[in-house]
Amino acid sequence: MTTLKDLQIIIEDAVNKLNYPSHPADLYEPISYILSIGGKRLRPALVLMATDLFGGDINAAIPPALAIEVFHNFTLMHDDIMDNAPLRRGKATVHQKWNQNVGILSGDAMLVEGYKLMMQVNDAILRPVMEVFNITATAVCEGQQIDMQFEQQENVQLDEYLEMIRLKTAVVLGGALKIGALVGGADQPNADLLYTFGEQLGIAFQLQDDILDVYGDPEKFGKQVGGDIMANKKTWLLIKALETAQDENLQQLDYWLSVKQFDPAEKVAAVTAIYNNLNIKAAAEFAMQKYASAAYEALNNINLSTERKQYLYEFAESLLNRDK
Ligand code: IPE
Ligand code: IPE
Ligand code: MG
Ligand code: MG
Ligand code: MG
Repeated sequence: MTTLKDLQIIIEDAVNKLNYPSHPADLYEPISYILSIGGKRLRPALVLMATDLFGGDINAAIPPALAIEVFHNFTLMHDDIMDNAPLRRGKATVHQKWNQNVGILSGDAMLVEGYKLMMQVNDAILRPVMEVFNITATAVCEGQQIDMQFEQQENVQLDEYLEMIRLKTAVVLGGALKIGALVGGADQPNADLLYTFGEQLGIAFQLQDDILDVYGDPEKFGKQVGGDIMANKKTWLLIKALETAQDENLQQLDYWLSVKQFDPAEKVAAVTAIYNNLNIKAAAEFAMQKYASAAYEALNNINLSTERKQYLYEFAESLLNRDK
């Protein structure tokens, strides 16, 4: 059986072979740039693992795996504009290195490139695959819009936040697995369980991302630590802090959420100190475990041998213990 490492090598090789025209340079260079500066390639790995899980041909899963990765990188290019993010994978973001318009249009072209790759699946499964892809892409837009709205919204509840991250992040992991399952010829009940595994894992994954945005090592994380705090992102950590804070902590938190002119480093340090006072990190990790358990439960229920599912377990484990 192929190992997770083998799959990652296959993906990296396929990503490196993606080739874009040289003209207009400002349209295509950012695509090559964002795809070349790293990334964990989690989503394409999920496509290949799902295909392999059901005994399908991994080679047939490479174009849809690439499609998902190109699509993901498109969402990052636009997300970095929306989040005003200077760094991605330890390098300048596209809108920083070029400008915003370049980031918008290159991102648009990337979305189309993702669709072209996805259309390379076998005709027999083209329609169901495109349906999953379309549903996934729309969900990301909905989630991203709600994420932006929440920056301005005072009262956001944890369940609203969880639905937002389900849309912007988790659905892509579920969608990647479902597409891989379609390529692998899975039956419906197993494909649905695998989707649930991806969705629940995706929620845990975004919770981890929110934790790392505050507590990550800037060198390893590759993104600006504290960016969510600067932008008043309603992450699980902030919502929980608002729920639990009292007296001085609450007063301070309200102050930092409302102040318009601030020193970014000072705001990040102050809000982090409040999180620390309230033990928010441990609470967020606990919540994350709940979704991880739900993911494992769905995986347990897929009626294939534990051995066949081994690298999905391994994958989930490494995903939840990452530092970038
Ligand atoms: C970042 O995704 C965006 C989120 C949904 C949190 P990844 O952490 O998978 O980013 P790369 O592709 O590995 O850089
Ligand atoms: C958005 O989440 C993920 C996408 C749908 C692109 P974040 O905004 O937290 O992702 P990062 O932290 O910038 O990677
Ligand atoms: Mg972002
Ligand atoms: Mg964002
Ligand atoms: Mg983030």
